[in-house]
Amino acid sequence: MKISIIGAGNVGATSAMRLLEADIADIVLVDIAENIARGKAEDLMDAASLIGHGRRIEGTSDYKLTENSDIVVITAGFARKPGMSREELLNKNGSIVTSVARSVVEHSPNPIIIVVTNPLDVMTYAVHRETGLDSSRVFGMAGALDSSRMNLMVARSLNRRVPGIDSLVLGTHGETMAPTVSHSKVDNGALSDAVAPEKIEQVIQKTKARGAEIVSYLGTGSAYYAPSAGVFKMIKSIVEDKHEIIPSSCLLSGQYGVEGIYLGVPARLGKNGVEEIVELPLTDDEQTLLEKAAASVRGQIQLLA
Ligand code: APR
Repeated sequence: MKISIIGAGNVGATSAMRLLEADIADIVLVDIAENIARGKAEDLMDAASLIGHGRRIEGTSDYKLTENSDIVVITAGFARKPGMSREELLNKNGSIVTSVARSVVEHSPNPIIIVVTNPLDVMTYAVHRETGLDSSRVFGMAGALDSSRMNLMVARSLNRRVPGIDSLVLGTHGETMAPTVSHSKVDNGALSDAVAPEKIEQVIQKTKARGAEIVSYLGTGSAYYAPSAGVFKMIKSIVEDKHEIIPSSCLLSGQYGVEGIYLGVPARLGKNGVEEIVELPLTDDEQTLLEKAAASVRGQIQLLA
């Protein structure tokens, strides 16, 4: 198993660490800043005997080393800086992920590509458009993270720990996130039986604002421990062919009444990538949220160069 991670920044390097330490695959870490990639890869290799894994990681700016990757994770790009419009970010990261995607498929004919760069649903669309790969092999990481964040917010609202809480967040990774209360559970019972409606509303608002909250604490940069855990969970389901249902940004062709764009939906992930987009019954309110999310993504795709 060979995994390439493009972008040796916080999310890329932390994903690499999780995968190495769990003995999942050999890794190639690529960055335009070659020495950053090399430095982080060498540092991670130094830990091999302490952790006790026999994996290899190489850092480079040369895509030749990514040859015949089974899975590629794209984290290259920038977080929005103060004063930068969403449109500017979209164009900047859009051109980065497009050129990265082109280089990736020049060296790996049929990889599974997991996109992490924001704005997520639009960047995943751009990578799919550029590579021409089957849409089952190009999808984005967001719903895993947003659902995990919601689990924590539910746990905190009940003053308990996380295990046993299972939330489901669909839609976009952004303001038009679509938490589906009807499919969120506490100890296998309905979320709405465990948490009062006004508290559920607070949970949802906190989940939506969570990325910005972390940014405000960090001062520079954005979250990476939980995002890399989202990447890890998706890759584990693929590599171990677990067929787990993990919300992911997938190309829709009519599911949930949406067509031709990428949006967060429950996806069954196995060795061939997205094996199935699971269509759950939604309440009218949830369907409306999902349609709003779809409209937002469509608007952003229009802005894509
Ligand atoms: N090719 C390869 N690497 C690139 C390119 C490129 N064309 N352009 C930028 N990079 C690299 C940068 O050099 C940097 O090392 O991408 C890396 C990004 O790392 P960070 O700035 O640390 O960002 P990170 O926190 O990892 O987030 C990356 O994921 O979660 C999203 O919103 C986040 O879009 C952002 C992305």
